[in-house]
Amino acid sequence: MIGVDISDQTIKVVQLSDAKPRRLLAHCIHAVGSGVIVNGVVANKEMMKAALQEALVSCRTKSIKKDTVVVSIPETQSFLRVIEMPDMSDDEVDESIRWEIAQHIPFGVESVYIDWQALVHSGHGVAKGKREIQAGAAQKKVVDPLYDVMMELGLDVAAFELESQAIVRALISPELHRKQGVLIVDIGSTATNVIVHDLGASRFTASLQQGVARLATKLAVQDQEKLMQNLHEIPADLLERITPIMEPELDKLVVDIRGVADFYNSIDAEHRVREVILTGGGSNLLGLDEAFLQHFENIHIQRGNPWVNILSSKDSVHPPMNIQESVRYATALGLALRNVIAL
Ligand SMILES: Nc1ncnc2c1ncn2[C@@H]1O[C@H](COP(=O)(O)OP(=O)(O)OP(=O)(O)O)[C@@H](O)[C@H]1O
Ligand SMILES: [Mg+2]
Repeated sequence: MIGVDISDQTIKVVQLSDAKPRRLLAHCIHAVGSGVIVNGVVANKEMMKAALQEALVSCRTKSIKKDTVVVSIPETQSFLRVIEMPDMSDDEVDESIRWEIAQHIPFGVESVYIDWQALVHSGHGVAKGKREIQAGAAQKKVVDPLYDVMMELGLDVAAFELESQAIVRALISPELHRKQGVLIVDIGSTATNVIVHDLGASRFTASLQQGVARLATKLAVQDQEKLMQNLHEIPADLLERITPIMEPELDKLVVDIRGVADFYNSIDAEHRVREVILTGGGSNLLGLDEAFLQHFENIHIQRGNPWVNILSSKDSVHPPMNIQESVRYATALGLALRNVIAL
C-alpha cells in the first residue's frame, strides 16, 4: 500500500509491503511549488498532477505490481468528533447526521462529504437514551480536485482519509488505544493539529493555524528559508542559532495547545487529557519539551513512534529512519497502514 501525505509545501510518499514481516519499500519527500496547493486546496490542477507524478516517480524505487494509494485530507479542511445522538437506528442516523454535524462545523454542511460510525462499549459513560457516533467530514473542494488528479494519473485510490485518522493509526499502539486522554500534537509546516484519542476512539480534533512557518517569522530571512526548504536533516548549528528567537513563539503555541486540552477537560469529568504525544517535523524544535513541561504539569510527554504498528519489537530496535525523520512521516505511514490495521 502507498500512503500519499499532501501538504501545501510537500508531498510525502511511503510504500509498505503488504506481506509480513512488513518492510518500508520506498519513501521520500517532494517539494511542491508555491501556489499549487493553498490551504489544502488544489489551486492549480495541472501543476499538481505534474508534482504528484514527479513525487511518485522519484519516491517509488521498488517496482512491484500496481499498488493502491491512500491519500490525506488536511485537518484544516475537515472535521472529526464523537457526538452523542439519540439512540436511533442506523438509517435514522444517516438521515439526521448532516443536521447534527452542521451544528459543529465552521463550513456549510452541503459542501462536505460525511462519514460516521457508531462506537460500541467505548468505556465512556453515555447518557441514557443516547448513542455515541464518531463523525467525520471533509470539504468537497479539497476532495474533488484531488480525486480528478488521481484519476487522470491512472492511480487506484483506495481511500481519502483525514490526517488525524492516519496519524492515530501510525502512533497509537494497541496498548495506547484503550488509554484515557491521549493528546497527539502534530506540528507541521503550516498548521498544528491536535487530536484527543480517548478510550478507543479519536473524540476531538482541532487545527491551529500555527505551524513552523509561523513560528519562524522572526528569524532572519535566510534562516527561515533554510529551515523551511530543507527536506532532510536540519543542521544542528542552525537549530541552536534559531532556538532563542523561536522560544517565545513556541511558548505561545504551547499555551494555545493547552487551551485545547482545557476545553476538552471542561466537557465533563470523563474527558481528561492524561498524556501527550508529539509528532510532525516541528516536534524536533529545541525548547519544545521545556515549554510542554511548563504548561502540562504532571502530564507524561513523549515523542511519537510511527513504527510501533509496523515493525515487530525485534525490528523496531533499528527503524529504517531516525526519530527526527520518522516523525515527519507519521501521517504517510498511517495512510499506508490502512487496510492492514483497522483502528
Ligand atoms: N530535524 C528537524 N528539526 C527542526 N525542525 C524540523 C526538523 N525537521 C523538520 N523540521 C521543520 O518542521 C516543519 C514541519 O515538518 P512536517 O514535515 O511535519 O510538515 P508538513 O507535514 O509538510 O506540514 P503540514 O502538516 O502543516 O501540512 C518543516 O517545514 C521543517 O521546517
Ligand atoms: Mg504533516
